[in-house]
Formats: sequence, C-alpha cells, structure tokens
Amino acid sequence: MPMDMDKATATARAAELRQLINRHNYLYYVLDRPEITDAAYDALMRELEAIEAKYPDLVQPDSPTQRVGAPPAAGFVTVSHAIPMFSLANAFTAADLREFDQRVRELAGVDKVSYVVELKFDGLAVSLQYVDGLLTTGATRGDGSVGEDITSNLRTLPTVPLRLQQPYTLTVRGEVYMPKATFARLNAERQEAGLPLFANPRNAAAGSMRQLDPKIAASRGLAIYFYNLASIDGVNLTTHADSLKLMREVGLRVNSDWVVLDSIDEIIDYCLAWHEKRHSLPYEIDGLVIKVNDLALQSRLGYTAKSPRWAIAYKFPAEQVQTKLLDIEISVGRTGTLNPTAVLEPVTIAGSVVSRASLHNADLIAAKDIRIGDTVLVQKAGDIIPEVVGPLVDLRTGAEEPYVMPTTCPECGTQAVRAPDEVAWRCPNVSCPALLREGLIHFASRDAMDIEGLGPAMVSALLAADLVKDFADLYSLTQAELLTLERVGVKTADNLLRAIDKSKQNSLERLIFALGIRHVGAKGALSLAQHFGTLEKLMAADQADLQQVPDIGPKMAASIVDYWQVEANRRLIQKLIASGVNTRYLDATALGDVFADTTFVITGTLPGVSREEAKQLIERYGGKVTSSVSRKTNYLLAGEKAGSKLARAQELGVPVLSWEEFLALLPAGTV
Ligand code: IVH
Repeated sequence: MPMDMDKATATARAAELRQLINRHNYLYYVLDRPEITDAAYDALMRELEAIEAKYPDLVQPDSPTQRVGAPPAAGFVTVSHAIPMFSLANAFTAADLREFDQRVRELAGVDKVSYVVELKFDGLAVSLQYVDGLLTTGATRGDGSVGEDITSNLRTLPTVPLRLQQPYTLTVRGEVYMPKATFARLNAERQEAGLPLFANPRNAAAGSMRQLDPKIAASRGLAIYFYNLASIDGVNLTTHADSLKLMREVGLRVNSDWVVLDSIDEIIDYCLAWHEKRHSLPYEIDGLVIKVNDLALQSRLGYTAKSPRWAIAYKFPAEQVQTKLLDIEISVGRTGTLNPTAVLEPVTIAGSVVSRASLHNADLIAAKDIRIGDTVLVQKAGDIIPEVVGPLVDLRTGAEEPYVMPTTCPECGTQAVRAPDEVAWRCPNVSCPALLREGLIHFASRDAMDIEGLGPAMVSALLAADLVKDFADLYSLTQAELLTLERVGVKTADNLLRAIDKSKQNSLERLIFALGIRHVGAKGALSLAQHFGTLEKLMAADQADLQQVPDIGPKMAASIVDYWQVEANRRLIQKLIASGVNTRYLDATALGDVFADTTFVITGTLPGVSREEAKQLIERYGGKVTSSVSRKTNYLLAGEKAGSKLARAQELGVPVLSWEEFLALLPAGTV
C-alpha cells in the first residue's frame, strides 16, 4: 500500500479487496475452481492487512483478515439450539435400508419416494447461525439441545464464510473434519515431539475445535462440509436437493458427491459401491446418509425422540482385521524417539497389504497387554496409518511373550531416556546413526529442501557408502561418487545432482524446517523466515526476540536457542553456507512474482495501454504471455472488441479479466 494513501481511497480499496478475496475464497473452497495463483491471493491479503494496519477503524468483523482474532477463552459459553440437533438412526445392512424405505412409504402412504444420498463425514457436528448474511454464532452439538459456543474456533476455518454471498438469516449444520493427510502429518509431528497421538481424524478434529485458544484450531488444517439447512428466513424450498444448491450458491461449502435416487435397490448398490470408493477420498467417511428429498414429506414424517424419521445413516462395516503379531521392532525417529513397531503376518486392510503397524509407545503396549505371538486386531487410523487395536485374549495359547521395551537405543546402544512430560523414550546420542539417516530423509523431504530422488533408499545407500556424514555433504557429492552406488546410472546420478543443486535456491523457511530443530514445524519455520528475513538474524535472536514472532511459543523458542548452542550445529550451518545454500527469505510477492507460473493471453483494446505494455507488466511480475488460448492459459486479459479469443476462453472455461480486474491482482501502489 502506498503510505500516502488517503482515508477515502483506503476505505474504497479495502472494500474492494474484501470483496475480491471473498470471491476468490468462494471459487477456491466452495467451487474448487481457483482463478488466481496462491501468490496473487496472498498479495491481495497482504494489501488488505496493510490498509487495516494503517487505518484500524476500517477493520470489520467479516474481513478475511479477522479469522484468528479472539484471545483464548477461559471456558466455553453454552448455546441453546433453537432447532434441536438430532442424530441419525443407523442401518448396517441392505435389509435395514429396505426396512427404512418400507416404513417411510407406509407412513407417507405412497408407493415411491425420492431420496438424496450424501456422504457421512466423520468429524464433529456443528451448527452455524448467520444473521443478515453475517456469521454470528457457531456451536457444537452438545446434547442436541445445548452445545458449546465455538465461534472463535470456527471463524479460523478458511472454508467457513464469515459473510454469505447474500444477506440471508439462516441456521446451517455441517461437519468439521480433518483431512487424512493432515491427520497423518499432525500425528507424525506429535510422535516426534513425544506427545500423545490422536486415535483418528475425528478425534483430532473434535479435540482441535474444543481448544480454548483459536490459534490452535487455526493451525490444524480443518475444513467443513455443510449438509443441512435447518432454517432460512423468507425462502420457501421444496426439496432437500434445492437446499443443497442454495447453500452452495450463498458460499457454504457442500460436498458434490450427492445424488438423488428413486428406489431402494439403487440406493443399496450406491452404498455398496462406496465401500471401496471411500478409500480414495482425501477425508474419512464412515457411511452414507439417506434423506427424503421432499421437504413437505420430511415434515409429515417428523421426528422420534432422538432422530428424524425421514433420514437414516448407512454405516460401513468396521475395517478391523485379525492377524498375528510376529515381533515388535524399535524404529528410531528423527529426533531420537524409540517407536515400537509391530511386525505382522501380512493382511489386507482398507485396500492395501499391511505388514507393519504402529504400537505408539511402551505405555500403550503395557496398558493393552499386547504380547508377541498374540492374535491382534489391526485397523487403519484415518484410513492410512495401520495400528494395532489390541490383542484377542481368548485366542492365546500360552506361548505369547510379554514385551519388554529395550532400555537402550537399538542403533547405537546408548541408554534411552524419557522426559517427565513425554510418553516416548528417546536415544539422547546426537551422533546416533539413525538420527542422521532420518534427519537426511527429512532434510530432503517435500516440505523441507524438496530434493527429488533423495528418499529413504538413496539416503541409506549414501550412508552405507560413507559418502555423507552431515546434511552439507550432499552439496559436494559428485557424479563419480554416485556412480559407485548399486543401481545408480548416469541419468539417476545427474538428476539427483541437479535436484540437490536446485535446492540451494530455496527460500529460508525450507532450510529452517529442514534442519529438524525440535518443535519447529513447516509453519513455525515460515513465521521465523518472514520475521527475521535471514538466517543470520534468526541465529542472533534470543528467547525473548523469538517469542515476539507469531506462532512461536516458549517451547519452540527455547528449542531454537538450544540448537544454535550446539557447536556441531553451528559448524553444519557454516558448511551449508559455504556450499552456496541460500539463507534469505525469498518473498515471492516482494520480488514481484505474483504471476509466477501464470500464463496470460491478451486480446482486444485495453484502456490507455498498449498490449505490449500490458505484456511487459505481466512479465515484470513473473508471468508469461502467449498468443493463443488453450487449456493451459490461466487468464485471458480482454479489452474492448475482444473477438474469437474471448469466445475460445469462454468455451474452455478460462477466466477472463478486465483491465481493472487485472490491476487489482497486482500489489497496490506498484503500477
Ligand atoms: S444429517 C437431522 N448429513 O452424522 C439431520 N449428518 O449420526 C441430522 N453427519 O450428528 C444430520 N455427514 O454429525 C447429516 N451428510 C450428512 C452427514 C451427517 C455426517 C453426522 C452428523 C450427525 C451424525 C448423525
């Protein structure tokens, strides 16, 4: 923002930005059809933040900047649900479904009923109230009539609109969930930090929403799907399908996997098809929900004490499989945690063969009395991480052996230790070979230095051949050295060297995360990089300086300070710098890269600028201009008298920008 922007201009621009950002949120989160790059979106957000920082009275509760606003609460306030939140009766078999349909038809006195079938999201049910289009209250289900006010937490979800696209007063119900991949990442981080793990994404979502500090909910990558419009003022709807469409139109995120089916046979087939299909979804569902489509018929059918008569939940059979626990091995994590892992007789669970599963920690093994040789139940938590549920005690033969957690590290023999507030045992040896191996795997991983081709197998090969002793050694590897490894040819070697070389250009946050400082995740690393700008400044910061940084708490700050204290770590940093690894934060927008990876086509007469000038502007911001519209075109910049290119763009669904809309994508004050 130009610092001299006057109040009137700022007011107008802030309103314009709020509208633009909300529109892009809708395109991204609800329609799943983004029109601008993440960098362009971030630039809009930053511009709005800058204006609001200069003129704080322009901040409005529905501003997209106001998601994490409220300070931690002392406790949750209760909220009464004007319309109770019912749960659903369950069906487990095709026969249960037929019985449900039969009852509905009998009660309704009709032969045929049309149903909507939706996914049953496995998360936390919430109710949101919008008044004149503004989000006012969000609550948990509680006992169905009284829940807890979790508005500040719900506001942090990017998929919860703070303002609807039209000023409706309505009550809407939905499910907050945690995507499978987010769950896996969260638990992996918790395991490394020695914290107790969440049993499944549902518990993780519910646990996150019940945190008093909205920052925690904000950091957990949660999302929402809305599935029920409990009330809306001034609109008469006739079917549930129409209400789903209306919700989506006003900006409420509705899952698109719903269908209208007219016979119970079709519904049964549809449910059975989802038994397998559900594993390909990025989030967990535990069944399907079948709802009478006609809303008048819904009211006639009414409710029992607990649930609607017009709907039923079809629950998938639990995917727990029985197998033999052959052995328990300890794998050493990146921060030295000793993770007990079950070695199993291979079984197929949720579509894939499982031969190893997590046993979490020694306390859990003891609490569940899991013994080697036991027949155990195994399931996938979040459908991805296999875990041992527990032993089938009745099937014991007497030959099973209780497990004794080793007191030393299996890789280096060092005495294991356990911090008083942690469940995990750790190897405290900083030169433990497992730490280097796991550390290298992490260093090269996608969110860290992103070195393609440097996965676990290659890391093990490099270590076995003694080619690397620390992270920095990667940068002095040669083709000749790599060619000494088994199954590595010239092409693999060159690709790897190129990927390693490329990683030198990474922005600082990747390097910070890659170092593997305890408690510093990808998010914390980004905050640090943005705040300090260079590694040098970060290293000069003391505990108090670090705690000034958003998202950095005392534990992380202390861990960072400790990290630089270790002589070996300082030497490693010097070596990385000497190898040419970048240690600066590269702000894509500050560099003018708002259009990185974005291709434009320009057509028609633009107001006051030539096409050549427009082209130069796009290129200055990192974009590309091509001459013909294809599926790869990100935008058509169209002026007056745009002809066939405009038609072609519309045909292909390529977003069309006017000159004004185009300018709005640029950081303000730069044109
Ligand atoms: S409809 C009166 N639709 O399942 C309408 N519920 O066991 C009640 N759920 O508490 C809910 N996906 O948390 C409905 N598409 C969906 C759903 C859904 C998940 C949850 C919801 C509810 C529970 C009922």
